Amino acid sequence: MTLYGVGLGPGESDLLTLRGKRVLEGADVVYSPGRLSRSVVTDHVPESRIGDLDFPMTRDPQELRDAWRDAAAAVAPRACDGDVAFATLGDPNVYSTFGHLRRTLDAFHPDVDVEVVPGVSAVTAFTTALGVEIDAGAGLSLREAAQGNSPTGPDRMILFKVTDAPATHEGLLEAGYDVTYGRRLFMEQGETLVTSDPQAVAERDYYTLAYAERGDLEKDRPTAFDDARTERAESAASGDGVPGDD
Ligand SMILES: C[S@@+](CC[C@H](N)C(=O)[O-])C[C@H]1O[C@@H](n2cnc3c(N)ncnc32)[C@H](O)[C@@H]1O
Repeated sequence: MTLYGVGLGPGESDLLTLRGKRVLEGADVVYSPGRLSRSVVTDHVPESRIGDLDFPMTRDPQELRDAWRDAAAAVAPRACDGDVAFATLGDPNVYSTFGHLRRTLDAFHPDVDVEVVPGVSAVTAFTTALGVEIDAGAGLSLREAAQGNSPTGPDRMILFKVTDAPATHEGLLEAGYDVTYGRRLFMEQGETLVTSDPQAVAERDYYTLAYAERGDLEKDRPTAFDDARTERAESAASGDGVPGDD
């Protein structure tokens, strides 16, 4: 049968897709790699169908490989007998633990069929939460900014893993970027925060991202209206009229 990688979306349980919900409801067992993803899963699936796997908090490559090999060995027989889901926050193919599981299954249990149900990723959800519009034709780069790093280069960047916002901010400001931070966006758990003040998000919280845009970017939107045109339109609408209009 099948192992489904299911994207849960950013954290609010009604941002799960209809397909994701259908798959979770139909799976014999649903695994989720963390406390937050589990709390979304429990809104859709009874505890009795939620499975447990041990997820290592290590960066040691060998320990990590061993742990995922154990996890894959636990999941594979269940996925051969029935349908199993592995649910992660956001999208399963964007910076996600699901990649570890899929690679390990490919290597050691190639008989398991794997399907992915995409989820609403923080990569796109941040635009709405931060009130940003990425115009058609504009470039947008995804980078990591862990441990106070300040990646620079592209005109627009979304930065994940902002764990030391004041240090990251300094480097970005020096390089000429305007920066907005978003914490726990569209999440039920914890306080959502959107701010351009790095001190407001100085306390470490893994679910923090930043949007950085070069301060000197020219925006040429074909449907943008300048103030004079807006005034003309408003006065025409109010009946004051503009000479020659009628
Ligand atoms: C390992 S990545 C997981 C990304 C996820 N798979 C996705 O598609 O959104 C974790 C990073 O994504 C960002 N992130 C994910 N969800 C977020 C949210 N709801 N609010 C703010 N940042 C979020 C944070 O920067 C966090 O450190």
